[in-house]
This record gives sequence, structure tokens and C-alpha cells, in this order.
Amino acid sequence: MLVGLGAVSTTTIAGVAAIRKGLALPIGSLTQMGTIRLGKRTDNRTPRIKDFAPLAGLDDIVFAGWDIFEEDCYAAARTAGVLEASLLDQIRDDLEAIKPMPAVFDQRYVKRLSGPNVKKGKNKKDLAEQLIADIRNFKAAHNLDRMVMVWCGSTEVFMKEGPVHQTLAAFEQGLEASDDAIPSSMVYAYAALKEGLPFANAAPNLTADIPAMLELAAQTGSPLAGNDMKTGQTLIKTVIAPGLKARMLGVRGWYSTNILGNRDGEVLDDPESFKTKEESKKSALDYIFQPQLYPELYKDLSHVVRINYYPPRGDNKEGWDNIDLVGWLGYPMQLKINFLCRDSILAAPIVLDSALFLDLAKRAGMSGIQEWLSFYFKAPMHAPEVYPEHDLFIQLMKLKNTLRYMMGEELITHLGREYYD
Ligand SMILES: NC(=O)c1ccc[n+]([C@@H]2O[C@H](COP(=O)([O-])OP(=O)(O)OC[C@H]3O[C@@H](n4cnc5c(N)ncnc54)[C@H](O)[C@@H]3O)[C@@H](O)[C@H]2O)c1
Repeated sequence: MLVGLGAVSTTTIAGVAAIRKGLALPIGSLTQMGTIRLGKRTDNRTPRIKDFAPLAGLDDIVFAGWDIFEEDCYAAARTAGVLEASLLDQIRDDLEAIKPMPAVFDQRYVKRLSGPNVKKGKNKKDLAEQLIADIRNFKAAHNLDRMVMVWCGSTEVFMKEGPVHQTLAAFEQGLEASDDAIPSSMVYAYAALKEGLPFANAAPNLTADIPAMLELAAQTGSPLAGNDMKTGQTLIKTVIAPGLKARMLGVRGWYSTNILGNRDGEVLDDPESFKTKEESKKSALDYIFQPQLYPELYKDLSHVVRINYYPPRGDNKEGWDNIDLVGWLGYPMQLKINFLCRDSILAAPIVLDSALFLDLAKRAGMSGIQEWLSFYFKAPMHAPEVYPEHDLFIQLMKLKNTLRYMMGEELITHLGREYYD
């Protein structure tokens, strides 16, 4: 169940439909294309992840969505403009069958949007109950065994944790009182967790990452992941930064700018939604470089992130990075990266993978924060006593070791003494 039938959701749904029909390949999806090494390097056991772990198959998935606009998934995919009409027309019937359910929406949390397909209720508790009814109806209508919810809605305004977020009891009172500190996304997360559904947040807003939701997730055995999918510029940042640090090269500044023309770009043109995104994008470098351990290399690093809304570009974002680095004896160097990417093409496999892995976690009895899924997120959820892991390669190792652990295989440490003894 996807909240928001925008660029990311429709590209995910249409992608799965096209892959099922054999029209395209699931490129970018670790669950579908990735392999996992098991045992010693000499054992030659490298199955595909989907053949190793009992993940749901693509043929077993049924999609539903909520949106404030009434367009069905085909029309919404045409509006998003990510995929070619020639591809969408081949899966048109599948997409037209998915009509958005009325949303829980309040413009105070997403200033640049308004739409007609919105639920009415006497308070936020009532709205949460309407979402729970949607979940149950969808489950019954399609005779489903299991479900997962992913927030792919717009980025909401920046919020900080407050008293109403601290306990489940306070949160439920807040729902009754329609507390302003409960944005729409939290109403969805609450409904999902209450029903025991795993929940992922593909956006940066404060949604499930609050003590009240963790309490509810523990009660209902629901796994959680987020926040904000690691797609374009941040993906590259978390590839390059660990490399520079591995070689003990210093960095004085990292200037990142983007032009983006889709609806996401329009929403992020509002300073309050941008602030949410900026916070999410900026944390990665601080944690990767660990300036407290390497003050000579990374203290006072100037990290600037800009997103400019530029309609002609649509979903085809362009990112520029300028990195001012320093080497031996303090000699300065520069690295420039120009990434002409497609945002939703990078995002769709993450929505798919995180849904499949969360469903697996639920069946494995793993509830609460799934730190092993940090691999997919810009601001990974983590236990309060540890810092988040942002290095893509450590994240991948953690993900694969978690799969080995779940399946009773030996963990891989990369020590490898045995080949030389
Ligand atoms: N595309 C990427 O690479 C990427 C990467 C990381 C995060 N994200 C985040 O994912 C989210 C979706 O991105 P997108 O490009 O699909 O944006 P989009 O604007 O195309 O789609 C978002 C959809 O959510 C709907 N919506 C907003 N509030 C809602 C609510 N309360 N209930 C139901 N529907 C609601 C909007 O009407 C819109 O159709 C954004 O928050 C974005 O920041 C995207």
C-alpha cells in the first residue's frame, strides 16, 4: 500500500507490471538482481538473493494507493512523465485498475498542494480509523496474506519531536484532540502499525521515527524503516566520501546543487518542506567523515546543499557537486561530479526492495527499527544510543550479513586467513 500515487509510486507499480510481463528488467533492485556469497570463496555458492531468502515474488504483489488527486495510476504515471507512453500503454489495464483511495491530508503540512480526493473526519483519530478500514477492505477484497505500507507522499514541513510523540498514550490523545504536531504522514504510520503492517518512510518527514510509533511497533510486531530514499546525489556522496576517508584525504568543502522540475521539486520549493529535505541530506557527510576523530581532515567542513525548482527538467534531475579536498602536506585538489539522473528510476527499486525486505523481517519476527535496511535511506533510522551508519559499503555488508543470519548461514567477516594457513 503506497501513500501518494506520484512519480515514485507510479514508477514502482508500472515497473513491477512491466517486469512481470517480461517487458523490462528490474535493474537497480538488489532483491531481484543481486546475489549473495555464502560460505568460503572457494565454495562457489552465490545464489540470487531472491532465490536465497523467501521473499514474496513479483507475481504475488497487489498494489493500492491513496492520493489527494483522483487520477488513476495510469493517468498519474502520465502526469508524472517518468516512463514513456509506449511502455505505459502496454500495461494500461493493470494501471487503470488502481484508483487512489481518498487521502488524509492537511495543507498545513504540504503548503504547495491541494486536491479534491481527501477524507473528512471529526478528528485525526477518526481519520486513522478510516485508513484502518481501507487497509482491512483492501486485504479482504484481494484475499491477501500480508501487507506493507510505504509513505511515498510529498515531503511535509520540518517538524521536531514534541511531547505528543513521546508515548503511545500521549499520541493517541493527540489523535483525539487533532494535535497540530501530528502531520498526515503520522496518521498513516499509526494506522499501518496498529494493524501490524511493516512501514517504511521514503520521504524525509518526521513520521515513524518517534518513541510513540516505536512503542506501537513493538506492541504489534511491526518492522520499520526510513527515512528518505537514498537515490541521486546522496547515493553518490555515500559512495565517494567513504573512499576519500579510506585514503585519509581531507575535505574542506562540499557544495551540492540540483535542478529538479517534478512535483517533488515544486513541493521542495517551499522553504519549510526544503528544510526537512536539507536536514536529511546534510547528515550523511558528518557521520561518514567523523570530524571528532579526524579534526585535521574534516573539522569545519563547509557542506552546502541546494535544490532549485526548474520545471523544464521534469523528473530528470541534474546534480552538481564540487568537492574541495586536500592531500599530502595540505595541497588542495578538486573533484567535480555532474550526475544527470532520473530520480524516480533510482527510487522505484528502493520502494520495491524495502517492501519485500520488510515483509521478510515481519515473518522472521524482527520488529521495530530495521537498521540493516539503512542501505536504502538518506537518514537511516537507528537506535538512540548508536550513530547512523551512512557508508554504502558498510550498509551493504550489514544487509547481506543480516540475510545470512536470518537464513542460518555463517556471517562473512572478510578475514580470509583460512586461504593462506
Ligand atoms: N524521487 C526520488 O528519487 C526521491 C528520493 C528520496 C525521497 N523522495 C521522496 O519521496 C516522496 C515522493 O516523491 P515523488 O517524486 O513521487 O513526488 P510526487 O510529488 O510526484 O508524489 C507525491 C504524491 O503524494 C501525494 N500526497 C501528498 N500528501 C499526501 C497525503 N497526505 N496522502 C496521500 N497522498 C499525498 C501528492 O498528491 C503526490 O501525488 C517525496 O517526499 C520525495 O521527497 C523521492
